Amino acid sequence: MILGLHSFKGGSGKTFVATNLGYKLSESGKKVCIIELDLKAPSLHSYFESSNFVNDLLSKKVSVEECLIKARKNLSIIIASPSIQEIRKELVRSDVESLKILERLQKVLTELKLMGFDYIILDNSPGLSYMSVNSMLVSDIIFFVSRAEKDDLAGLRILYEVSKNVEKPKYVILNRVTKEAEIEFPVVAKIPCSCEVPDHPFFVEINREHEISKAFDTLVEKILKIV
Ligand SMILES: Nc1ncnc2c1ncn2[C@@H]1O[C@H](COP(=O)(O)OP(=O)(O)OP(=O)(O)O)[C@@H](O)[C@H]1O
Ligand SMILES: [Mg+2]
Repeated sequence: MILGLHSFKGGSGKTFVATNLGYKLSESGKKVCIIELDLKAPSLHSYFESSNFVNDLLSKKVSVEECLIKARKNLSIIIASPSIQEIRKELVRSDVESLKILERLQKVLTELKLMGFDYIILDNSPGLSYMSVNSMLVSDIIFFVSRAEKDDLAGLRILYEVSKNVEKPKYVILNRVTKEAEIEFPVVAKIPCSCEVPDHPFFVEINREHEISKAFDTLVEKILKIV
C-alpha cells in the first residue's frame, strides 16, 4: 500500500509524519519503506547516510537494493540527494522527463512491493509540482498534512480542489495541533505540538509515552484497518 504525504505550505510536518508513522507501522510488524521525494529541498540526509539516492534510482543509475538504508528492523529509507547539482536538475526538469520519472517511479514501487514491503510512504515536496502530482497518481491513499492555522487550511482547500479528479481516498492529518479546529474534510489524526522535538529521526522511539506517540498509535490503528 502506497501512502502519499502532501501539503500546500512547507513546514507542515510531512517529513516528521513520514518518519514517525513509518517507525510505528514497522513496529506493528509491517515492512515499511519511506521514500524521500522532496528532491528540491531534501532533509533526511541530515539523519541518514547513503551514497545512493532516490535521484539515482529514478534515473536508473542504481538498483533499489543499492538505495535502501536499513534504519530499523522492518524499516528502510531511501533518501534524496543533497547535492546542489541534483537539486538544480530537479528545478529545470522538463514535462517529458517528468513523465519518464512517473513510469520509473511506478516500476520502483512494484519492485518494492515484490520485495515484501507492506507500506511505502512517499514524503513529498510542498505545493504543486510534477513530482508531487506524480506521487498522488501512484498513491493508494493521499494524506494532506496541515497545521490547524488559517493560512495552512486555506492551502489545504486549494489542494483538495486541485486533486478533485484524483480518485483516491484522501485524509487530513492535522499536525502541531494546539487548539480545537473544525474543518470540512475528513481528519484521520490530530498530532499535538511539542516544544521538545529532539535531534533524532524518530520522536516516537525516544518519547514513547508522549501524546504525539499516542496520536501516531491511533493513526496506525486506523491505517491498518483501511487495508
Ligand atoms: N508535532 C510537532 N511538534 C513540534 N514540532 C514539530 C511537529 N511536527 C513537525 N515539527 C517540526 O517542525 C519542523 C518542520 O517539520 P517537517 O520538516 O516535518 O515539515 P515538512 O512539511 O516536511 O517541511 P517541508 O515542506 O519543508 O518539507 C521540523 O523541525 C519538525 O521537527
Ligand atoms: Mg519535508
